[in-house]
Amino acid sequence: MVAKILVLNGPNLNLLGTREPDVYGHETLAGIEAATRKRAKGLGLTVEFRQTNTEGELVDWVQQAKGDADLLLVNAGAYTHTSVALLDALKASDLPVIEVHLSNIHQREEFRHHSYVSKAALGMICGFGGFGYEMAIEAAAGILKNKA
Ligand code: DQA
Repeated sequence: MVAKILVLNGPNLNLLGTREPDVYGHETLAGIEAATRKRAKGLGLTVEFRQTNTEGELVDWVQQAKGDADLLLVNAGAYTHTSVALLDALKASDLPVIEVHLSNIHQREEFRHHSYVSKAALGMICGFGGFGYEMAIEAAAGILKNKA
């Protein structure tokens, strides 16, 4: 069976392309999705790609992923730094989690240095823009291969 990666994007990531281009560049989320899908396809993986501005919807999606997806790739946006609810859901899912951020959160404001998502993640990729999603797909392929 083809392994499935659920890519979850949090608040304001729908605005990529016009949002703070000095921080996030000019890539759109649709462009990142296309590159992520292409990379996954080349590795024989399927991708479901979603974005929401709502914390509860992220939690619902993580809960529903159990038994459906094989790995979660998560850019929770600002909820990264605030959401214990998301952390609890990620832990309860028992799924491998890879955390991604476009920007280098450790180079930015102090409040972005802490990530609740990291507490449930195998690892984090940040600072490489949208290419970080492709890097995460490569990491996912390795993780899922070792699991099989
Ligand atoms: C982000 C970093 C977060 O601090 C911020 O709130 C975002 C985007 C990133 O991808 O760099 O919305 O997750």
